[in-house]
Amino acid sequence: MICYDCCFLVILDAMESQPLFQSRIGLGTWQMGEDPSQAKAECAAIAHALAVGYRLIDTAEMYADGVAESLVGKALGPFASSRRTEVTLVSKVLPHHANKSGTIKACEATLRRMQCDYLDHYLLHWQGSHSYESTIEGFLTLQARGLIRHFGVSNFDLEALQRWRVAEENVGSSSHSQSNQVYYALNQRGIEFDLLPAMNKLNIALMAYSPLGTGNLAQHAGLALLAAEHGLSAAQLALAWILRHPHAVAIPKSTHLARIEENWQASQIQLSATTLTQLDALFISPTRASRLAII
Ligand SMILES: NC(=O)c1ccc[n+]([C@@H]2O[C@H](COP(=O)([O-])OP(=O)(O)OC[C@H]3O[C@@H](n4cnc5c(N)ncnc54)[C@H](OP(=O)(O)O)[C@@H]3O)[C@@H](O)[C@H]2O)c1
Repeated sequence: MICYDCCFLVILDAMESQPLFQSRIGLGTWQMGEDPSQAKAECAAIAHALAVGYRLIDTAEMYADGVAESLVGKALGPFASSRRTEVTLVSKVLPHHANKSGTIKACEATLRRMQCDYLDHYLLHWQGSHSYESTIEGFLTLQARGLIRHFGVSNFDLEALQRWRVAEENVGSSSHSQSNQVYYALNQRGIEFDLLPAMNKLNIALMAYSPLGTGNLAQHAGLALLAAEHGLSAAQLALAWILRHPHAVAIPKSTHLARIEENWQASQIQLSATTLTQLDALFISPTRASRLAII
């Protein structure tokens, strides 16, 4: 394993010469905010992630009905004001809110809960019944008002992504979706066959959700064995494997302070060709198109 400075791989946003993502490991917040008795610890976990170096936080209006966003808001501290440009904040609009006016209202509510002035990435959480054009119009209005820097999608397969690009053209948008947040992990490699190559061609960054296979990979015996040979944990190896894609970020969720640190260290690991081959033997890459895995 070779360590390197992760800043070297910061992904630059051509429009503003600001990074698209301020760190390649981000903190997921799904399932935070659901139990009020855990709120203090969850808020402390988010603050700890920021203290350790995480500069990417993923949340959504759906998570605990907005409570996860509120927890992020409480934990941000100076990252909501004087240090705001140092962190990449991502949230998502629910599909049933995602017509033009609903998207705008949902974003305004998210910003109030997160106690900040703008989001870096605002995503359509998954496809719903509103036209892509109306969602894009909402995103463009938010962008023009400075309330979001970028927009994007989540859980979009190849066909949906191509239709979204057509919709962007239909509304005459000069901005494009910058990211697609999809399930991608060692045990969920389906997107490698067709979606990921298409995203690379379209300059759409991969935000890998559930990068630990919702936690299963951290318990995987074969992965743990291989990881131990390199002095790593199974979780670290699973995350470093995702980051072999130069434009990918991964957003593992944890509320354990030690695991938050453990996961963060994955951003400083570069895997050798031999290790990648060993991982290919454990987790087979796809040989044909498959339905997009969605949680
Ligand atoms: N766009 C979408 O539709 C969508 C869907 C799913 C998820 N997401 C996003 O992606 C984020 C991550 O996905 P996820 O939460 O489903 O799954 P994940 O990050 O793959 O796994 C999270 C699970 O792994 C455990 N864990 C974390 N680090 C660990 C470590 N180092 N060792 C052992 N166990 C560890 C966590 O438990 P502890 O907390 O107890 O450590 C939790 O149970 C979500 O929080 C959310 O922000 C987006």
